[in-house]
Amino acid sequence: MGEINHECTCHGNPLVPQVVKVIKITQETPDVKTFRMQTPDGKKPFAPLPGQLGMISVVGVGEGMFSITAQGEDWIESSIKKVGMLTEAFHELAEGQEIAIRGPYGNHFPVEALKGKDLIFIGGGIGLAPVRSLIRYCMEHREDYGHIDIVYGSRSPEDLCFKEDLFQNWPKEKDTRVEITVDRGNETWEGNVGFVPAYVEELAFSPENKKVILCGPPIMIKFTSEALVRMGFAKEDVITTLEMRMKCGIGKCGRCNIGSKYVCLDGPVFNLAELDELPDEK
Ligand code: FES
Repeated sequence: MGEINHECTCHGNPLVPQVVKVIKITQETPDVKTFRMQTPDGKKPFAPLPGQLGMISVVGVGEGMFSITAQGEDWIESSIKKVGMLTEAFHELAEGQEIAIRGPYGNHFPVEALKGKDLIFIGGGIGLAPVRSLIRYCMEHREDYGHIDIVYGSRSPEDLCFKEDLFQNWPKEKDTRVEITVDRGNETWEGNVGFVPAYVEELAFSPENKKVILCGPPIMIKFTSEALVRMGFAKEDVITTLEMRMKCGIGKCGRCNIGSKYVCLDGPVFNLAELDELPDEK
């Protein structure tokens, strides 16, 4: 397939955690918070490429693998949805507290192969988190990429993540269109109501010179992929990430394999043609 980089980009020893301070917490939705992290001497702990992950731990509680959703000169950010004991511990953190991180893990979105292409980013729910790192990268290297469409959906208006990016920052970018849909509206919602796969078909993208980056709940990926294929997109041109399967991140725990592939070593970024070659459990 050749265009997604499956080589490890870990720097140093990926098993050694670094202490980081939480310097900013943003409440994205009722159950998602974004944590901005920095080393105690004011640096970013590592420089991930878009789509890579970090193993983040709350001392005394546990650790989990999370996408790096954004980075700046001296910080990185992860967005964490409250779904269990560990993620609840993250949600109880206050700014100024210390946690630990190691990484980066996994391959990354093929930023070189996407150059010169029009890009369609499609995200559902917290699935916008890994895609956001690539959107930000493309915005920072805007001259390298063509027209950008961002299609994002969530269950309700309250569940839309990264509202500042969606409603303020990204629509102002050159040659960029943001299309938002929710499964259920409310009394103030004036935007589109409907599921992401149907909305994508309604938007009637033509496949010419385009690459699609798709991330969200498995059911959304399944139906959106089918819609894109019906619209004429080649499976090689639709890229997704199976990052939710990443556990240890280093090929040791055996919890991420699909057939002969290890998501943590061969992915988590794959295109649909590659996924088609794997056994059906995906
Ligand atoms: S995440 Fe543990 S083996 Fe891949």
